[in-house]
Amino acid sequence: MDAALLAQARDRIAAASQIFVLTGAGVSAESGVPTFRDALTGLWARFDPEELATEAAYRRQPALVWQWYEHRRAMVSATQPNPAHFALAQLADQRPVTLVTQNIDGLHQQAGSQQVIELHGNLFANKWLDGCGRCDTVPPVPGEPPHCALCGAMMRPGVVWFGEDLPRVARYRAEHAAETCDLCLVVGTSGLVYPAAALPGMARENGAFVIVVNPQPSALDATADLVLAAPAGQCLPALW
Ligand code: APR
Repeated sequence: MDAALLAQARDRIAAASQIFVLTGAGVSAESGVPTFRDALTGLWARFDPEELATEAAYRRQPALVWQWYEHRRAMVSATQPNPAHFALAQLADQRPVTLVTQNIDGLHQQAGSQQVIELHGNLFANKWLDGCGRCDTVPPVPGEPPHCALCGAMMRPGVVWFGEDLPRVARYRAEHAAETCDLCLVVGTSGLVYPAAALPGMARENGAFVIVVNPQPSALDATADLVLAAPAGQCLPALW
């Protein structure tokens, strides 16, 4: 890690009055959470994630997609937050921070972060697909999506699938926070998936200083005022 850049980032963070943080899969990498594509290992290696994570795929093969999510829940349940998650929770104890994540693993909350804005939903939340409004579950059977006892609707994972809109309130709150911050910290995201990837640009256009933390080059480096090429779990605890 470049000591001069680190010192510059520390000073900027110390002087900021509103901090907007955007996190991605990289913040959970050191916890051992497989990224979306890495989740397709073993039995799942022959599937294309973009063919499993869509509403059409779920309607076509509900048990298969449901089992993939059961597998992912089991993998995430075996992990713990890492120093990057804890550092972000600690930052919010000290400063005004809005934490926006693309992750669905809940590890920020487990580390103590509150009011996390989850742009892509949560792996452990379910919702109804075509529910009747009075849906009631029958006892779930492993490997099968639960059904409503009244109308037969299926439960579906409460995550954002390809082709779906972001949850409206989460998106609105994230955009507002990006536009009104004076420091934007982008951690562990490739910056390839929109609309989340547009948030640091909004922050920059509104005058914020943008810091990217990522050991690899990312699509958001061009938007950044400062890039810290280091793993989040090492870098963030050194920043405040
Ligand atoms: N610390 C910080 N960054 C890291 C670390 C680390 N220890 N390890 C890896 N990274 C970086 C990688 O270099 C990469 O740029 O994390 C990034 C992960 O990129 P993606 O896997 O594309 O994850 P993300 O940007 O969160 O993806 C966005 O796309 O797959 C969909 O819906 C899914 O929310 C996800 C969205």
